[in-house]
Amino acid sequence: MRITLANAADILKNGGVVAVPTETVYGLAASFDNIHAVESIFALKGRPSNNPLIIHLACSRDLSRFCDIESQSLRLLDKSFWPGPMTLVLPIKADVIPSRVRAGLSTAAFRVPQHPVALKLLQLTGPLVMPSANLSGRPSATTSHHVEEDFGFDFPVLEGGGCDKGVESTVLIYDSGRWSIIRQGALTAESFRDVLGYTPEIKTTNKESPLCPGQLHRHYAPRAKLQLVTVFTPEMNGLVLGFKERKYPKNLTVICMGSLDSPEGVAENLYKTLRELDSENIESARVDYDLPSGGLWQTIAERLGKAAEEK
Ligand code: TXA
Ligand code: MG
Repeated sequence: MRITLANAADILKNGGVVAVPTETVYGLAASFDNIHAVESIFALKGRPSNNPLIIHLACSRDLSRFCDIESQSLRLLDKSFWPGPMTLVLPIKADVIPSRVRAGLSTAAFRVPQHPVALKLLQLTGPLVMPSANLSGRPSATTSHHVEEDFGFDFPVLEGGGCDKGVESTVLIYDSGRWSIIRQGALTAESFRDVLGYTPEIKTTNKESPLCPGQLHRHYAPRAKLQLVTVFTPEMNGLVLGFKERKYPKNLTVICMGSLDSPEGVAENLYKTLRELDSENIESARVDYDLPSGGLWQTIAERLGKAAEEK
């Protein structure tokens, strides 16, 4: 159900939940300090309770309410990348954010989104938690229609068109004097080099080092079983998620993910393509995983890799 900005602000102020467009993916929004609303988000998504939420702010000045940090590199990141698809995990003041939001951690994640509709809403409501607006484990939603696929046609959605980045924000954490990436995203590691003076290391989450708890869980996956393929052989048949420039064995039907010249275009359509497999009731597909290296292709490779993990 499409709602107006004023409706959305009212629902949120009264402890409800609405879906909101951002430049990365749609988010499921609730007031950060309304425990009932935060609980509804975990319940609606089927989200594991050890997976903390990102707090979205209208403006980075609002950070001072939550954090006491004076850091030159934080100021530079803020100036260069906010509003935008960057999330920073920071230590927080005591008792300013409910434990449930941060899954009991002593840090919290913050982001100032760039989408004008999200910014206008945040100006009306104050800080909002916004996980991606999908059922836990499923591909994220990049249109209001995707939100309705997961939560039904009666679910309140603020319309904002398609999300042009198409993949989530890049999450960084500061440790031992350096920033590291703990979730790859719409901003590449290289894009931070000029501002920080170094390229942040991409650290992977595993059970031994759960830096980014969300990465421990199944993610981005359609119901269709995906098989990542780097070498194609003539006897292959069925479906392949492929690229415009490539030729595939003649018995494969190609679903085009975009062009090898445009990782931005592939990222923008990635979840849409994965969701289409489900709306067409497709049971399995191959994925051309012979991807160019570096930059946004690394994020795309990570998302496809997770989408193909065994159920
Ligand atoms: O682009 C985005 O970031 C979207 C839009 C809606 O803003 N939001 C989003 O939220 O992707 P979500 O909840 O799907 O992913 C948040 C990620 C999770 O992997 C979570 O574990 C991590 O951020 N995270 C949140 N708080 C954290 C913390 N204190 N320490 C480490 N990781 C944290
Ligand atoms: Mg998510």
